Amino acid sequence: MLQGKKILLGVTGSIAAYKSLLLIRLLVRSGAVVRVLQTAASRDFVTPLSLSTLSKNPVLSDLTAGDAWVNHVELGRWADCMLIAPLSCNTLAKMANGLCDNLLLATYLSAVCPVFVAPAMDEDMWRHPATGVNLGKLHAYGNTVIPVEKGELASGLYGDGRMAEPEAILGHIKDHFVAGGGALAGKKALVTAGPTYEAIDPVRFIGNRSSGKMGLAIAAELAARGARVELVLGPSGLDVGNIPGIRVHRVESAREMYEASVEAFRDSDIAVMTAAVADYTPVTKSVEKIKKNEGVFLLELIKTKDILKTLGEQKKASQILVGFALENAHEKDYARGKLKSKNADFIVLNSLNDEGAGFGFDTNKVSFFGKDGSEQVFEKKTKQQVAKDIVDKIVELAGL
Ligand code: CTP
Repeated sequence: MLQGKKILLGVTGSIAAYKSLLLIRLLVRSGAVVRVLQTAASRDFVTPLSLSTLSKNPVLSDLTAGDAWVNHVELGRWADCMLIAPLSCNTLAKMANGLCDNLLLATYLSAVCPVFVAPAMDEDMWRHPATGVNLGKLHAYGNTVIPVEKGELASGLYGDGRMAEPEAILGHIKDHFVAGGGALAGKKALVTAGPTYEAIDPVRFIGNRSSGKMGLAIAAELAARGARVELVLGPSGLDVGNIPGIRVHRVESAREMYEASVEAFRDSDIAVMTAAVADYTPVTKSVEKIKKNEGVFLLELIKTKDILKTLGEQKKASQILVGFALENAHEKDYARGKLKSKNADFIVLNSLNDEGAGFGFDTNKVSFFGKDGSEQVFEKKTKQQVAKDIVDKIVELAGL
């Protein structure tokens, strides 16, 4: 798939540099020609000998070799794609600000090809506002940021900041060449995610256990393929972090989610409704905390507006609308029913009967039901991989 593609791999100083070796092997096995640029700091983590052996090419590190100048302009023009993995916090900051004190940075500034970066850092560094600003700059320069993963970090802590696994990075590079670049560049997408809270009084609400993880994974995948994403997120404890290309709108109730979504949908090309929106809300919300009194307390509820259905009614032919269905009986019939009644292009069905699928899990098992009558059943996968399948389907429907 990557036959003959010329890839410049930048390796910077991070413990994740050991994964670069596996990444090189995967790229070479896929047919790519790999040349490695290594910063001085990365040599503490992985040796030039290992990198050159696996890439089958000499490793470049310095702006000069003996008394000769290394032509970074030629390198930048040679490549079909530049990939920096791992991208350390330090190199990120230098790239964001146009610094040029090593060969990798000089080549980055000279590169005329698409640039991908796979950041790796500790969670606190990942969350620092400066990191967010720097990633935002890279995104604005047109570079693609491959999302970090959650997991065990070098500090021994568990959290966000792990470099994406080599297989996932390879997937992004393959997608790029298959789809001819960020397939969704210039497109706008709306994603709803998480639960809604319907207030009963100032301290109580009706909510649900949706984590928002599936919606965030889809938003990240859409952004990674170049779309500008409006993420309308209900009150989940999810840490969205810094993902370039995603703007987060925090909402609480079904009504707030409805208003933010209808507004964003107007100029969206794509909308994916993953939120677990409350179907009913209290008719009145007590201004004062309700005191306990009688043995039985009756709460009157009224139906909320169906966001997906409303968008389905407003949808133009060029817009792609995706809905979700979470069922535990008559799953296929209900999914097909929702496809029709809500005028979606396809419905993603999660069955509550499948182990590891649905609320709170990091995995999901889904099936797609298309307007054309198609049905695709997928294996249990991580939510990131499910997000990729969903975005692949969107790209296919958009004819991109
Ligand atoms: N949805 C929405 N607005 C609502 C309710 C649901 O946008 N007020 C969207 C969800 O985000 C999801 C799909 O509709 O994409 C789920 O369909 P829905 O019929 O509401 O599922 P359930 O809540 O499970 O309802 P039912 O009891 O009819 O199965």
